[in-house]
Amino acid sequence: MPERVIPLADQRYAAAVPRIPESTPPPTGRVIDRLGRPLRDLRISVTDRCNFRCSYCMPKELFGKDYAFLPHSSLLSFEEITRLTRLFVAHGVGKIRLTGGEPLLRKNVEELVAQLSTLRTPEGKPLDLTLTTNGSLLARKAQALKDAGLARVTVSLDALDDMVFRRMNDVDFPVADVLRAIDRAMEVGLGPVKVNMVVKRGTNDHEIVRMARHFRGSGAVLRFIEYMDVGASNGWRMDEVLPSKEVIARLQAEFGLEPLQAQAVGETAQRWRYMDGAGEIGVISSVTQAFCRDCNRARLSTEGKLFLCLFATRGHDLRALLRGGCSDEQISAAIAPIWQQRDDRYSELRSALPREHDADAAAPKRVEMHYIGG
Ligand code: GTP
Ligand code: 5AD
Ligand code: SF4
Ligand code: SF4
Repeated sequence: MPERVIPLADQRYAAAVPRIPESTPPPTGRVIDRLGRPLRDLRISVTDRCNFRCSYCMPKELFGKDYAFLPHSSLLSFEEITRLTRLFVAHGVGKIRLTGGEPLLRKNVEELVAQLSTLRTPEGKPLDLTLTTNGSLLARKAQALKDAGLARVTVSLDALDDMVFRRMNDVDFPVADVLRAIDRAMEVGLGPVKVNMVVKRGTNDHEIVRMARHFRGSGAVLRFIEYMDVGASNGWRMDEVLPSKEVIARLQAEFGLEPLQAQAVGETAQRWRYMDGAGEIGVISSVTQAFCRDCNRARLSTEGKLFLCLFATRGHDLRALLRGGCSDEQISAAIAPIWQQRDDRYSELRSALPREHDADAAAPKRVEMHYIGG
């Protein structure tokens, strides 16, 4: 067996230091990319660590004891994140999602929430401030997050059957604790909670109807996610993807569904309602029905690299600007052209891309999900 070399976390993904234009107007002005898409949504990863080892994201064999996570000095501080977010908001961002890894592993993350909740859009509106978590630490943190100004949470949950769930998180975490966390989040007003189920054919697709039955009428919105070929370490295979069409067919046969209109441009989920009024579900079909056309999401990694697509191989090193003494005007003027030059649409192009790329050790690696937060 060849020895596996783990690159230093800071050097794992290529990132260029953005150029600062000579003219640096005040940090205002919405930006649109080369495909006409505005910048609306900023997903901020606050840690690359996680206490789960879901096989589709951080398989145990690759993310073991010797894995080099980012050192604390590399992470953006809460002040740095808030400062950058303020500049993104001036460029049109109105929605913030904190992710990870597992975002609740970042110490005192509620202090970051409190800082972000003070920001306002140019129209004076508060931001839509949300967080996606595996739920393991949520029951005890829900109240503090709510008090700090978090609007909603999304909880990942792949099965109701305890054995299946323990196998999928691969750290033997019990499903009852996640269910309790979802209830707690609703109790403190972090709802309606969205529940994300990544569906892998042959692993948990037999849980689809049971999950739907459990969350029908509960006020939580269950979303079924097609297993994606994100990163380069989950050994993704198309035959493990269950197309959303099949999910809908199974639920249709059991309960009766009808499609709902999209609530906002660029949404990831297609929404459906139960015909008997028991609420709604969503399907996120990145593999079989790409939604790049309206994609308005930018991603900020834990150590301050800006990525323009979930499947990107290169980032833009904003931390270098923050720590290099740049002014707000300079950083803002550097961010605008990055978005304006964006033409990413990986999911739409996926079928045309050669997959041998993944086997080529010298080729740039796509960012991993635990690092960029999905
Ligand atoms: P809401 O805005 O509350 O609906 O959340 P969301 O769907 O934007 O975010 P969430 O963190 O719940 O992610 C749901 C699933 O969609 C995850 O599997 C994400 O990886 C995936 N996802 C989110 N944004 C994108 C995207 O821009 N492209 C692709 N391909 N998948 C995405
Ligand atoms: N495919 C689809 N969704 C994934 N997630 C993590 N890895 C994958 C993958 N390979 C989901 C998590 C979480 C959300 C942010 O992304 O389960 O709910
Ligand atoms: Fe699982 Fe989310 Fe952790 Fe990845 S970041 S291992 S999907 S809980
Ligand atoms: Fe956006 Fe990239 Fe996802 Fe397409 S694949 S929706 S461009 S993040």
